[in-house]
Amino acid sequence: MMEPLVDPNDFPASRKSAYLNTASVTLMYRGAEKAAAKWMADLATDGTITFDEAAEESVFGELHRATAELLNAKEDDIAVGSSATELMASLAWAVAPDRGSNIVGTGIVFPSTIYPWVRVARHTGAELRFAKGRGQYVDPDEVIALIDDQTAVVCVSHVEYSGGQQYDLARLARKAHDHGALFVVDGAQSLGAIPIDVNASGVDALIASGYKWLCGPFGVAVMYLAPHLQARLDPGVVGFRSHENMWDLQPTRLDLPKTARRFEPSTMAYGSALGLAASVMYLLRVGVARIRDHNLELADLLIDGLRERRADIVGPQRDEERTSIVAARFPDYDAAEMARRLNAARVVVSARQSTVRFSPHLYNERADIERALEEIDRVRR
Ligand SMILES: Cc1ncc(COP(=O)(O)O)c(C=O)c1O
Repeated sequence: MMEPLVDPNDFPASRKSAYLNTASVTLMYRGAEKAAAKWMADLATDGTITFDEAAEESVFGELHRATAELLNAKEDDIAVGSSATELMASLAWAVAPDRGSNIVGTGIVFPSTIYPWVRVARHTGAELRFAKGRGQYVDPDEVIALIDDQTAVVCVSHVEYSGGQQYDLARLARKAHDHGALFVVDGAQSLGAIPIDVNASGVDALIASGYKWLCGPFGVAVMYLAPHLQARLDPGVVGFRSHENMWDLQPTRLDLPKTARRFEPSTMAYGSALGLAASVMYLLRVGVARIRDHNLELADLLIDGLRERRADIVGPQRDEERTSIVAARFPDYDAAEMARRLNAARVVVSARQSTVRFSPHLYNERADIERALEEIDRVRR
């Protein structure tokens, strides 16, 4: 019998529904909500009396430290931004692959991962190469076959949002580096749910949003930038915070920090960063390897139940490619309609690419999977 992994009071909404939708938006860790709300309330009542210049300067400190620990990196390797998209765009403009070079990605990736590179390529004339795959699966060998000595960047989502396929980061990093290319990873669908060691895997940059598997709020994202790139890249987005001393305020000089902090351009909803710091510290306490094992156990139960109901599971082809994102097609039932009916019955899922996507996380228990399967039976009756 599976034990609950966390105290339900840490996720007060988790007993109100069978919430299987973390790949869209997480239920927020209560401590994250509290920290973000406290910052907002303090600002509303005290303005710069409490949120003074020193406080603003050091506001990302906790999140730098917690994210570094999560990734086995250093504080200086971490930048905080408002969204994964914004950080990816700033990085893409900083790298700006030239005409004659190419950018390799997959054709099933979430658009936000690759659009920043598409936009830069339109400007520079760099070529885009997409591994098309079949259905919601891309064979990693197809990605590798597209890499050559003209490849400037290989950019993939660690876990595909639609079918939940996971790539072997170390293998792709090695292949990219063999050809002198950078390996950039979108970790929005993995960080917080799957252990990632940026040193062991050799990624050059990794970006993740706060509001999915990290159990934090909207309005904040994090980026790891490998040390060899930190003094070299000119961010696409800069502002007063980009200066090495943010209170320098001399518009005629822009001396960027020699750390990942150069990718932190300006003000933001700072409370979100404090909230995310709280949830990352919480995930560290629970342990990401335990979270992965728990989530996969739930995914196994779900897959068994779905197969008994003659559903097709799309995505991962090999065991090591599996995650707790499970996407299913029903032979006798439209996926969008099934998702709508399940949501109406408080089994919270998404419809994606003609599948029903389930995405359990640490706050889910066996009972949530059982509820989902019962509700599927009810819908099909
Ligand atoms: C893989 C991936 N990257 C990025 C995003 C969007 O990130 P953000 O909202 O932080 O820009 C999503 C959202 O679903 C996603 O699945």
